[in-house]
Amino acid sequence: MSFREMLDGLAIPILQAPMAGATLDAMTIAVSRAGAMGNLPATGVAPEDMAATVDAIRAQTDAPFGVNLLMAPPLRPEPAELDVALARLTAWYAELGLDVPDHPNRFSQDFNAQLTALTRAAPPVASFAFSILTKGQVDALHAAGSYVLGTANTVAEAIAWTEVGADGICAQGFEAGGHHAYFLDGIEASSVGTLPLVATVLQAVDLPVVAAGGIMDGRGVAAALALGASAVQMGSAFLLADEAIIGPTWRQAIADAPSDATRLTRAFSGRYARGIENRFMREMRGQQEDVPAYPVQNRLTQSMRAAANKAGDPELMSLWAGQAVKLAKPGSAGEMVKAWWTEAQVTAQALAKRTGAPAP
Ligand SMILES: Cc1cc2nc3c(=O)[nH]c(=O)nc-3n(C[C@H](O)[C@H](O)[C@H](O)COP(=O)(O)O)c2cc1C
Repeated sequence: MSFREMLDGLAIPILQAPMAGATLDAMTIAVSRAGAMGNLPATGVAPEDMAATVDAIRAQTDAPFGVNLLMAPPLRPEPAELDVALARLTAWYAELGLDVPDHPNRFSQDFNAQLTALTRAAPPVASFAFSILTKGQVDALHAAGSYVLGTANTVAEAIAWTEVGADGICAQGFEAGGHHAYFLDGIEASSVGTLPLVATVLQAVDLPVVAAGGIMDGRGVAAALALGASAVQMGSAFLLADEAIIGPTWRQAIADAPSDATRLTRAFSGRYARGIENRFMREMRGQQEDVPAYPVQNRLTQSMRAAANKAGDPELMSLWAGQAVKLAKPGSAGEMVKAWWTEAQVTAQALAKRTGAPAP
């Protein structure tokens, strides 16, 4: 079976986005059991825990699921650079009654060790963002029995993933919540809307495309499929689900957000990501190009964000969310995907009527 056939075989062609810090295996399992495809964010999973993590999902569902890694570069900043970066954060930590943290021993999990462990664990689908695998790494995943889904923000990135042998492209538009996956060019050149991105990637590569960014309900699913996508990947639409692990402050921030509330920021993590704009994003805007690159800044702000979450202060948390997050609704993830698919079917029927298409 090809990856395209796997996607075509899904009862519901919706991939739940892997969302580090917002979802765990409970959502992955619920979504896959409902006939769509759940995805586990495994960025924070230590290599030695990878096999047990993947096996725990496999034990709970026979349906396909995915496991996702963010490809953090192994940066080793000089102590002086860390001092400058932490000095920039001193006043923010002080607001929460905290000193800035000591220099961390490490900034992220070791990606190569995670990849080796993930390859051994062989989930049905392995997805990646922030960089690109080598052909050898993709071959090893294939040999283990996993399909490879590469995330692209541009056509050039989609072509690059095709050249290393990926099985599908997750085309992530500028609308998307959370971190953007760009790796060949800067944020401005990599900011393409979901609609033109999906259409131009489909023109350029002969792989199934999964559309991501701004898709919040069945209408969006129908629109992406009409464009030629094989499936969609939805993130923000799941943020208010029962299975999401975001706390009450983040949930309330979504409820309180005015329309058009999201912005891109580099200030929290050292990589551009979209979230509901807050005071940290506004006041750090002038310095966001100066902060250390991901994952360094992400690690340096980690305890600030955690403390703000604990204190119920939305102004110092990363409230990752996409441009259409105001359409998010609460519910159980399994029921949500079923309802979106029904809505997509109704939308398609209404469109057929509107366009005067002959009855099938
Ligand atoms: C809170 C949050 C966390 C995310 N974490 C990840 C992640 O760990 N890995 C990943 O590949 N994408 C991640 N994303 C991006 C999603 O995969 C997807 O591209 C995005 O949610 C699609 O846009 P939407 O939010 O408008 O649906 C995250 C998105 C959000 C909102």
